[in-house]
Amino acid sequence: MKLALLSVILLFFSATLVAQTFVANYDESKMPAYTLPDPLVFNNGVPVKSKSDWKKRRIELVNLFENVEYGTTPAGKVRLSSVLLSENLNSLDGKAIRREVQLKLEKDGVEILMNVLLYLPKSDKPVPLFVGYNFSGNHTVAKDPAIAITTSWLKSRGTTTDNSAPESQRGSDAKSWPIAEVLARGYGVATIYCGDADPDFDDGFKNGVHTLFKETRSTSSWGTVAGWAWGLSRVMDYLEKVKEINAKQVAVLGHSRLGKAALWAGVKDKRFALVISNESGCGGAALSKRIYGETVGRINTSFPHWFCENFRKYNLKEEDLPLDQHELLALLAPRPLYVCSAEEDQWSDPKGEFLSCVGASPVYQLLGKEGFPGKDLPDFQKPILGTIGYHIRQGKHAINLYDWSCFMDFADICFKKN
Ligand code: GCU
Repeated sequence: MKLALLSVILLFFSATLVAQTFVANYDESKMPAYTLPDPLVFNNGVPVKSKSDWKKRRIELVNLFENVEYGTTPAGKVRLSSVLLSENLNSLDGKAIRREVQLKLEKDGVEILMNVLLYLPKSDKPVPLFVGYNFSGNHTVAKDPAIAITTSWLKSRGTTTDNSAPESQRGSDAKSWPIAEVLARGYGVATIYCGDADPDFDDGFKNGVHTLFKETRSTSSWGTVAGWAWGLSRVMDYLEKVKEINAKQVAVLGHSRLGKAALWAGVKDKRFALVISNESGCGGAALSKRIYGETVGRINTSFPHWFCENFRKYNLKEEDLPLDQHELLALLAPRPLYVCSAEEDQWSDPKGEFLSCVGASPVYQLLGKEGFPGKDLPDFQKPILGTIGYHIRQGKHAINLYDWSCFMDFADICFKKN
């Protein structure tokens, strides 16, 4: 008991220290020397030599990530039902079907509603599809007045003060979702507001998907990133039943914090055939031990709800972490993975994201795949394409048409389109 109290006090002081003194390091020469854990060595030091060894090692590593970083997702099942909110069979100048469907997740009298916005190209066969969360509501993704304005909690940014979504936001994030261009290449798009699954604030897990499970929370209970990831799997449960979609060719993607969620969703749910991380940074694709840009202490202080409590033990102590993010990427093997960075987004540590791909590659190779053919950070706008793909582009922290065109080029190869 005394020990527990002491550790709470220590965690509090380390969080305060991080908050007060944090200055991000952007100087490679000031990084500490670090050694990355080898994904191909069991916790007891025995090397992983075969595909069947990897099966066991994978379980060990997933457990480690659950205990140390993202938290454990409860195993119980929920009841899933859906209601059609609206449909336009001639959307985007008659080229597409637009549908919005409300999913209801129910368990023990608690229910969570998630609105899925679907755009599908007209096609005589089931289409491959990109699925991912949006930051501010489905209505921000396109101008279409038929898309429901989210009623979920939304961070107020000047236009409202009561955490509601204003009509003026309609289409405001359309640049991140180049739907017409994606559909023109034969892909469908499904998107959901992340706040439907779990509102992005520290509320002690009193709302969102966490409330579906009556668990006593512990230091390894799931945080918001794991909640979002689990929500993506429930969306996948639904997508599998949509006849216009090829459920074997669903790519899960996400930008930034939602990229962290996409990666963890891909690890936990092998139905995602391709995983795409756009500038996911710390707690996503970037290595933690480099201490470059955002750090573990910083992320746990600014966003205490994203990860499990155990992750806070590594505030200012990244060297003690028994894992690093290249191992997270390795857990996606042998499925294709695409990671992207942006030059001006040093906070996400582009080089740390690149090196994570390098570090994940041996696992892909053990499983008979090419892995990641990159050795040095490539030039801007020069994607590296192996089973793991990577690009760094000029510009800011964002997801834009260039990024999407690379995802589609990569998906064309993975899904043997054209
Ligand atoms: C912050 C946070 C990042 C996160 C980003 C985002 O910058 O520190 O970890 O990825 O927000 O989601 O946009």
